[in-house]
Amino acid sequence: MQYDLKVNGETHRVDVEGDTPLLWVLRDELGFKGVKFGCGVAACGACTVHMDGTATRTCVFPVEDAVGTEITTIEGISEGAELTDIQNAWIENQVPQCGYCQSGMIMAVTALLEEIPNPSDEDIDASITNICRCGSYQRIRKAIHAVADAREKANV
Ligand code: FES
Ligand code: FES
Repeated sequence: MQYDLKVNGETHRVDVEGDTPLLWVLRDELGFKGVKFGCGVAACGACTVHMDGTATRTCVFPVEDAVGTEITTIEGISEGAELTDIQNAWIENQVPQCGYCQSGMIMAVTALLEEIPNPSDEDIDASITNICRCGSYQRIRKAIHAVADAREKANV
């Protein structure tokens, strides 16, 4: 079957089975390699993208249900070469270790900060359930608070 998918503002036509997980369509058909395979059962968050702004785990999401939504991957989150404030905070706080989980983390954190601009540690723990085998959780929290504080100051 053919499906039109809108990814990072551009429409792409793909010819795949309707129940193919969106993860594999994004990676293998369209070449968006920032989305990662971790567990395949919606547990780890490595495959997180935004669908209509909502953080979504794509390893269990059938491509046919993605038609008509605005999909954003890590490749489309910034404006051209400009990194987002979250990506910059990741660099400043040296968050990544191996980095494998981090694009999914950044997608999840980006969605969280849209919903809760200044999250508590409890909010972070409840919302960011992504798994990092390197254990970068403390730095992730620190970077999230740094972004929230900077945004708050910029709005004053
Ligand atoms: S690969 Fe999708 S949640 Fe782990
Ligand atoms: S930075 Fe290595 S898995 Fe998270």
